[in-house]
Amino acid sequence: MNQRPDNDNRVLLIDDEPRVLSTLCRTLRSSDVEVLTAPSGDKAMRIIESTTLAAVLSDQCMPGINGTTLLSNVRRIQPEAIRIMLTGSADLNVALAAVNEGGANHILLKPWSDNAVRSVVLESVDEFSRKAAKRRSEAAALSHRERLRQVNADLSRRIELTAAELTTAHDDMLTALVMALDSRERQSAGHSQRVALYCLYLANRIGIDQGFLENIYRGALLHDIGKIGVPDAVLLKPGPLSPAERKQVEKHVEFGYRVLSRVDCLRNSMCIPLFHHERVDGRGYARGLKGNEIPIEARAFAIIDCYDALRSARPYKPPMSHAAACGIIASDAGTRFDASLVELFMQEAASTWDSLADASERVCSTAEAIDVCRRTAEVAISTPA
Ligand SMILES: [Fe+2]
Repeated sequence: MNQRPDNDNRVLLIDDEPRVLSTLCRTLRSSDVEVLTAPSGDKAMRIIESTTLAAVLSDQCMPGINGTTLLSNVRRIQPEAIRIMLTGSADLNVALAAVNEGGANHILLKPWSDNAVRSVVLESVDEFSRKAAKRRSEAAALSHRERLRQVNADLSRRIELTAAELTTAHDDMLTALVMALDSRERQSAGHSQRVALYCLYLANRIGIDQGFLENIYRGALLHDIGKIGVPDAVLLKPGPLSPAERKQVEKHVEFGYRVLSRVDCLRNSMCIPLFHHERVDGRGYARGLKGNEIPIEARAFAIIDCYDALRSARPYKPPMSHAAACGIIASDAGTRFDASLVELFMQEAASTWDSLADASERVCSTAEAIDVCRRTAEVAISTPA
């Protein structure tokens, strides 16, 4: 069927009487139709099986395959072709059989009028042609929709891949940046990655919505990015800072905020860099916010930041034990730190923070960090402090 050449105006005439065939051909000669003829049902079948036909006009009484059977075959093989029965009998039963069994669309009686034949055949060809055009249009629309669906699916796949690649590149860029920042203050190597993981863990325990964890992790990772604006002579000064130098250092929170506000993908990670030196008693900087005015992730981070500083070795001090660091943090609960967050922090065993510190050296992406915190929490729950 699919190999048939497309042609919307081809008509097959079938009659075992050559005279009838030639008369019918003459009747249709001046019409815009391509006429094929067959002198028997068997020969007609070969054409029907191999050629697209707009209409089939068949005599009823023929030796071999009769008209009703032939039209029935046309309906089976080419259901779109219009079927016309030509019969010399005005018997109602013959007409009913032609319609019911042969699926005839029209019945013409012999003797026929040329106008009636021409009119029925041309109308049939028109009808076939309209339906064929509609089918082609629907097929083209379907094909177009399918192409669009494929293009959309392909685009979605590419966007997902690009987003994944961007996330990886983004994480790599952040890791490289914080490593550069930490190595500038040589004594605090690994500090940013540790506090980022600690903060993410604590945020998770606080119950902060999962959708914010990525922003919190990145904010913690970049909490001191503003220090790139503090001169080496001040940042790396071994002795105590003068009041003016202290002011310069304090500006790192506002500077970090300005830097991050220019980066679309980090705009939601600015809370910790901007507010991590605020105190709940309002004596912090840069805004002097009090209590719950300070975003909760920045209040949590302030505890974490202090804890890591106390637990880390400095040229001027050895690392402090977990218990000693917790003692100092507890003494600042309600003044420097949020008391309820200090309490939550204290509930974690030293081994939890030590485990996170170890993991921070291997974590390369936000997704990995979230996964490490989830697994650490599972261990912490099964082995309480
Ligand atoms: Fe800072």
